[in-house]
Amino acid sequence: MQKKIVLSDKEIPQFYYNLQADLPFSLDPPLHPGTRQPVSPEDLTAIFPRALIEQEMSGLREVPIPEDIRRVYAIYRPTPLIRATELEKALNTPARIYFKHEGASPVGSHKPNTAIAQAYYNKQEGTRRLVTETGAGQWGTALAFACRTFGMECKVYMVKVSFDQKPYRKILMQVYGAEVIASPSVFTKAGRAILEKDPNCPGSLGIAISEAVEEALGRTDTKYALGSVLNHVLMHQTVIGLETRIQLGLAGETADVIIGCHGGGSNFAGLAFPFIRDKINGAKIDIIAVEPESCPTLTQGKLEYDFGDTAGMTPLLKMYTLGHDFIPPSIHAGGLRYHGAAPLVSLLKEHGLIRAEAVSESSIFRSAVLFAQAEGYIPAPESAHAVDMAIREALKAREEAKEKVIVFNLSGHGLLDMQSYQAYLMGNVAEDASDDRNRSFGIAC
Ligand SMILES: Cc1ncc(COP(=O)(O)O)c(C=O)c1O
Repeated sequence: MQKKIVLSDKEIPQFYYNLQADLPFSLDPPLHPGTRQPVSPEDLTAIFPRALIEQEMSGLREVPIPEDIRRVYAIYRPTPLIRATELEKALNTPARIYFKHEGASPVGSHKPNTAIAQAYYNKQEGTRRLVTETGAGQWGTALAFACRTFGMECKVYMVKVSFDQKPYRKILMQVYGAEVIASPSVFTKAGRAILEKDPNCPGSLGIAISEAVEEALGRTDTKYALGSVLNHVLMHQTVIGLETRIQLGLAGETADVIIGCHGGGSNFAGLAFPFIRDKINGAKIDIIAVEPESCPTLTQGKLEYDFGDTAGMTPLLKMYTLGHDFIPPSIHAGGLRYHGAAPLVSLLKEHGLIRAEAVSESSIFRSAVLFAQAEGYIPAPESAHAVDMAIREALKAREEAKEKVIVFNLSGHGLLDMQSYQAYLMGNVAEDASDDRNRSFGIAC
């Protein structure tokens, strides 16, 4: 039995995998916010570089990863695939549980996989400055790091509730040289409109996106970068699943269950898409996206065209959505507070290639603590949603006496989320009466 399956630098993927090439159904196009007609590549050039627009619309199965990007990936990629042996023992399950440790990146999450690519392609086309939004701060940190790597300026609109809850994330972005603003802010029309209605608004990803896009549209030296949802972002993240497939092969395993937490869809897609290809080709794999009960986009949203942001400035995307003016409650998993879901993930859900589950906040912290006590790693509250579902599946395998292989994405570590853990340990995260799993673990936690 091997605890860690580690690949060499040479095995950093040479191509991103574009699932669109293999889908038996096609994606509905994004619509222009003004005309409601399909957007043309030209419509997007005000905010994105051409290379990324091409990737967004590409039908090519394998998109080569430039050497300059692979060189930066080599700082932390390939990430290890780790067998959660101690968790298996704690759960007394016949399942074999593996996690892909994306928290091993310098900024602590999967987000640099696309931040590095986006900064690189922008730099190639002469962009001097990138502006973005961030929820929990993980994406902003990743983009700040990537901009620093390629010698660009970076400005981040950070959702106010996380700005206040996660001061160290803000400092991390500042260490990489980024400017960080709490959103909603008085610096944009979109921010001022929200603050006029509610001066204490906790913010949301949708609002922060409006602010960042407004700034990018108003400056010729600045482009916008998005940390999730769009096709090219999901495609950059497929390095996760491509490596995982090789690592499972080395361990002599075939995945039965694939799990990722779901905010906008990028870490879930990154792990899952290469396995969706196997599923389309006949493999039997249960692929699960896990979201918070308080922001149940995939499980309770409607599949329809909606804006990606609150002010209605972005193209309309066909996706599961809770409505672009939905402001989710201030939960600890700030990165999962998004009203929409990636159009590609939405399409997979519609066609039954994946399923979605919503879990409660108390449940995810209970599972995160159990995982930390068994395996040592402290998950980000977002990633704890995947941990929680992996534990549920492992317990199901125990009930059914089945030897399943369960693989989940540990999308980030939680070492800067101690306030959240403190709230949980002090009993300040509401208990979910309907969840009785804590009594079925069979161990104290
Ligand atoms: C650690 C971590 N996991 C998951 C997410 C959710 O984003 P996505 O669904 O795009 O992976 C975030 C977002 O900030 C995050 O920081």
